[in-house]
Amino acid sequence: MPATHHKETRSQHAIQLEDRFGAHNYHPLPVVLERGEGVFLWDVEGKRYYDFLSAYSAVNQGHCHPHIIGALTKQAGKLTLTSRAFFNDVLGVYEEHVAKFFGYDKVLPMNTGAEAVETALKLARKWGYKKKGIPRDQARIVVCAGNFHGRTISIISASTDPDARGDYGPYTPGIDVIPYDNIPALQRALEHPHVAAFLVEPIQGEAGVMVPRTGYLKEAYEACKARNVLFMADEVQTGIARTGKLLACDHEGVRPDVLILGKALSGGVLPVSAVLADDDVMLTIKPGEHGSTFGGNPLACRVGIAALEVVKDEKLADNAEHLGSVFRAEMQKLVKEFDFVKLVRGKGLLNAVVIEPRNDGRTAWDLCLILAQNGLLAKPTHGDIIRLAPPLVINEEQLMACCRIIHDSVKAFA
Ligand SMILES: Cc1ncc(COP(=O)(O)O)c(C=O)c1O
Repeated sequence: MPATHHKETRSQHAIQLEDRFGAHNYHPLPVVLERGEGVFLWDVEGKRYYDFLSAYSAVNQGHCHPHIIGALTKQAGKLTLTSRAFFNDVLGVYEEHVAKFFGYDKVLPMNTGAEAVETALKLARKWGYKKKGIPRDQARIVVCAGNFHGRTISIISASTDPDARGDYGPYTPGIDVIPYDNIPALQRALEHPHVAAFLVEPIQGEAGVMVPRTGYLKEAYEACKARNVLFMADEVQTGIARTGKLLACDHEGVRPDVLILGKALSGGVLPVSAVLADDDVMLTIKPGEHGSTFGGNPLACRVGIAALEVVKDEKLADNAEHLGSVFRAEMQKLVKEFDFVKLVRGKGLLNAVVIEPRNDGRTAWDLCLILAQNGLLAKPTHGDIIRLAPPLVINEEQLMACCRIIHDSVKAFA
């Protein structure tokens, strides 16, 4: 066979570089992106896509939102990091903004979602010892099967996903796992007098957008109150307008004792996360006991304020609520038309379509490849679930165009 010399595309080059020099801890779709604006992404070949992942709901405000990027660039030329060894002129302004925005006494700023969850776990233990009177080193945290709270050792100690836990033991003790969306199981777990907190996602995002039955959050909250246990909501993925309300807990009028936020807190511009609580809980952590070099840096604070302003000014929660129902109604038509499309579920613009893998072995991954070819980026989970979560700045016309792409792709897949 004669030797043929293919010119390597820019995409192939980028993929090979990552493969050669990067750790293999991800398995991305073969699309190499170089630019984003609003609901759109462009790859290095110049092809345009609708973004239906939004960086796992970090980019709720749309890519490179001018108000957020404006705040970033203005602050970047002035002061980026002081550490918390000193005060800075932005942190307090940010803390007031965030605390009032979500209605809590205080905020503890961190960077990634996992760090915020770790912070909440520490806060729960501290409160358990200092306020609830749990004997030293005996505190327990109740979590739900199928959870995703991040990747640290303590967090994966709470995971039930074999890939996440695998060969990473020994695990952090003091964690009790119960089934999700199961109040009797929660009540039994809360009977243990050493439980400090119940940590829960209002909708389990990574598990495949598992929406609990209406009433679950409220009953879970009340069960916690009856036992003097902190109700801690991990709203890293569901929070900040994604599900059609500012917080997913708002759908049931539940105000968590500890609220964990990340991702869209910066509009996907920088790693910015936070834990919010009232004084009674938050002030149990004393100076020197917890922190982070980058947490609360002036750059992140300016970005965070701007990101929340966009959420409010552009009424992103209302848009997510309205377009979410439009979207699910459209996807419901697919369920009717194609018998391998089993169901659609979700809230606001956090949705998932579940498909039956084909007899020839093709899975949701293959459907996502077709979607990408047709100009829409989404990522499969668990082989049969495709999460569909566009930036919340999407408009109805764009959403309908996306529904047509999804329809045509499903038809091609069939
Ligand atoms: C509910 C939830 N909590 C925590 C995390 C972890 O956030 P990060 O990846 O920023 O550490 C995620 C990320 O997907 C998440 O969905």
